[in-house]
Amino acid sequence: MWLTNSSLGRKLVMAITGACLVLFVTFHCLMNSVAILWPEAYNTICFLLGANWYALVASAGLALLFVIHILYAVWLTVQNRKARGNDRYAVTSKPKQVEWASQNMLVLGIVILAFLVLHLVQFWSKMQLAELMGNHEPDPANGIYFIDQAFKCPVTVVAYVIGFIALWFHMTHGFWSMFQSAGWDNGIWMPRLKTIGNWWTSIVVVLFLAQAAVFTIRANRACDCEVSKEWNALAGETVSCCSVIEVIEAEVVETPCCKAAEGECCKAAEGECQGECANCENNQNNQD
Ligand code: HEM
Repeated sequence: MWLTNSSLGRKLVMAITGACLVLFVTFHCLMNSVAILWPEAYNTICFLLGANWYALVASAGLALLFVIHILYAVWLTVQNRKARGNDRYAVTSKPKQVEWASQNMLVLGIVILAFLVLHLVQFWSKMQLAELMGNHEPDPANGIYFIDQAFKCPVTVVAYVIGFIALWFHMTHGFWSMFQSAGWDNGIWMPRLKTIGNWWTSIVVVLFLAQAAVFTIRANRACDCEVSKEWNALAGETVSCCSVIEVIEAEVVETPCCKAAEGECCKAAEGECQGECANCENNQNNQD
């Protein structure tokens, strides 16, 4: 078959699968933004993309795209090296415009693959796969909870930043190269496509980086109750800093005096915090 027998056909397969993966990565990065702006809506999306038949078909299709893209990449690289024979090791003066990324697409792809394995272990295996296996504890549709768990570990953000950098180099080169493989190789459009590819990839990667930063801060947050209230509730934490404070306040309001002995402020009858033990005595008297 032409798509497997000819080198042009194989390049076209790389281009088509690459284009689909660019669209997936863009969609995924937009979806992650929902997790920041509207966590409840994100969990609803995760529920819809769980072990439902249409989501399983989409995941299988996506996996197939990744597998074909990787296998063809290895195939084309081996073929190119065979064609060049020992010249590969000869000292050749490379034209300046041959970018670093274009010569390291396979290595960059391997770094992204390593990131992906870690990523799927952290998320897919605990969500869609867990649901398929009938494992419902913790709730496999609670994407916010799994994000919180993953980004609590400092290794996650380091591994993700490395993955995103590799993705930037891989995607900026892959973007225009897929048009070239599809035969769209003209002097006017190639520079334009390179600019579009650089912008597109940079926006996606900067969004991913920003998301990783926000998720890391949220997962390891200090006591900033207003910011993390909604996130805490969805991440299903039983004793977060906010809930502790809420519990304390609830107790104090119920029994206005005297919590000071236990190191907490006490409340006057109007519900004002007096803070001092001496006042506590007074409050007690006032109340009586
Ligand atoms: C901050 C960065 C990222 C976060 C927080 C994140 C989060 C998630 C979460 C929660 C899931 C499971 C739920 C879902 O299907 O949406 C997931 C699945 C997935 N992610 Fe990511 N992701 C990130 C970056 C990436 C990148 C850069 C790639 C690819 C290069 C990627 C590839 C995938 C794949 C292939 C799946 C499985 C999709 C499926 O089940 O069909 N992710 N990610």
